[in-house]
Amino acid sequence: MGKEDLYKLLLAKREEAFLGGGKEAIDKQHQSGKMTARERIEYLLDPGSFTEIDMFVTHRAVGFEMEKRVGLGDGVVTGFGRVNGRPVFIAAQDFTFMGGSLGEKQAEKIVKTMRTALSVGAPMIFLNDSGGARIQEGVDSLKGYGDIFYMNVMASGVIPQIAAIMGPCAGGAVYSPALMDFIVMTRGTSYMFITGPRVVKAALGEEVDEQSLGGADVHATKSGIASLVGKDDKETLDLIKKLLSYIPSNNAEDPPYIPTDEPTDKEVPELDAVLPDDPDKPYDVKEVITRVVDKDSFFEIFPHWAPNAVIGFARLGGRVVGIVANQPNYLAGSLDIDSSDKIARFVRFLDAFNIPIITFVDVPGFMPGTMMEHGGIIRHGAKILYAYSEATVPKLTVILRKAYGGAYIAMGSRHLGADYVVAWPTAEIAVMGPAGAVEILYRKEISQIKDPQERAKFVEKITQEYKEKLATPFFAAARGYIDDVILPRETRTKLYRALEVLSTKREVRVRVPPKKHANMPV
Ligand code: HXC
Repeated sequence: MGKEDLYKLLLAKREEAFLGGGKEAIDKQHQSGKMTARERIEYLLDPGSFTEIDMFVTHRAVGFEMEKRVGLGDGVVTGFGRVNGRPVFIAAQDFTFMGGSLGEKQAEKIVKTMRTALSVGAPMIFLNDSGGARIQEGVDSLKGYGDIFYMNVMASGVIPQIAAIMGPCAGGAVYSPALMDFIVMTRGTSYMFITGPRVVKAALGEEVDEQSLGGADVHATKSGIASLVGKDDKETLDLIKKLLSYIPSNNAEDPPYIPTDEPTDKEVPELDAVLPDDPDKPYDVKEVITRVVDKDSFFEIFPHWAPNAVIGFARLGGRVVGIVANQPNYLAGSLDIDSSDKIARFVRFLDAFNIPIITFVDVPGFMPGTMMEHGGIIRHGAKILYAYSEATVPKLTVILRKAYGGAYIAMGSRHLGADYVVAWPTAEIAVMGPAGAVEILYRKEISQIKDPQERAKFVEKITQEYKEKLATPFFAAARGYIDDVILPRETRTKLYRALEVLSTKREVRVRVPPKKHANMPV
């Protein structure tokens, strides 16, 4: 073959690779409302920035007619490119070729991409759309998954890992996304489960369809698997872009700073009016968050799962922060099993990637009851204590109202190493709320007062005394457990100043005796 023919051969092979599983399969993909792997990559990355690797990789499986089913790329498109100018590595499964099923070679391509991302220090993005382990390749495909899981763990805490689920993701295949930092699912066209409806029916006699078992909305509201949901492929990819805008490329970098004209030295008078006059009335903590951080910068993660805790990214004076807050609007903001998991994992992500944490506290306590106790609220709640204690990034805390008992300690208290803790004058920091405290301390005295009016007067008097002496921010301020009591309107300015000065915080922890790692409760 002459030179020109060889050039033509290359271009012909490229063309063949671009077609994936063929035109018919691409049409089917489009008909089902999905983009192809290459269309997704093109949409996600900056125009013209994608550099593909391993386009010519093919499987080497034999038997079950696999010799006849060889396709360039082997069902996954891998490479690197840029998102808003910053490098990322990407693997996008191509459902048009053998249902995107994963065999030995597809796995090798993915692992190679992950390994390079890790050595370069750039985020890894994995667009899942696959029938799972390639049945014809037997244990070779299982080995492939094992290699991917291992790389997920090696990369964890070093580079951000984001999974999108844009089609099927079933069986053990779900564990790669589960080991990554964030999962974004596409509504209607994606699902994730360990065992599908047919096995569920056979094993348990339970009738359930794919979407009710493991669709995007199920995982975004019930299981806490899907951090975010896109209404279609494009929105899913837009959410990944947005996520990336808040996080650094690796754990040695700071998150992307965007200069802003928004003043950080001006009071925000509206904040004075957010809390209701009645301390037991609910309100939306997002009314506080959005007024403290830069306009339109709050990006909530897991907005529909465990809504009694609110987490997300934001900017304050252009600097990225992670927000953790109790939500008095839901279950009075108490901490239950799911909200504990939600907070703890997010705090660990923020700490791993140098993102300061701002915690807004209004928490009556950990949730009581047999359901909680039997479900293990003790070990789940312990994760919040663990995560905050472990975190060495700047930790700033604002106590808005209730901060009772163990939940006060857990929610970014100074006792777990917070750097700047302030309270609004409305803060109630104590072992428990006034009603419970008075009942325990004065049960005998109260029962001895026969006249109901007299009894009410007595209870009112000691409740008042408890509120004034103990359930107030000034008791904690007198001890130095909180650094200041501030007006709500001053919150943005005070936090920004602390954030600025803490930006050079370096906390070196001496591990005596040396240890491999601690043993986090799960
Ligand atoms: C090989 C597969 C495949 C697989 C799909 N295909 N899954 N080939 N191994 N796992 C092929 C089909 O044979 C078909 O080939 C093409 O992909 C498209 O599949 P369809 O069934 O026509 O598509 P659709 O109707 O959209 O259904 C998609 C599907 C279904 C729901 C994913 O294909 C399916 O149930 N697949 C099996 C899912 C599964 O049980 N996987 C194993 C999970 S366990 P043709 O030639 O007709 O185009 C697992 C373990 C991981 O993954 C272990 C980690 C430790």
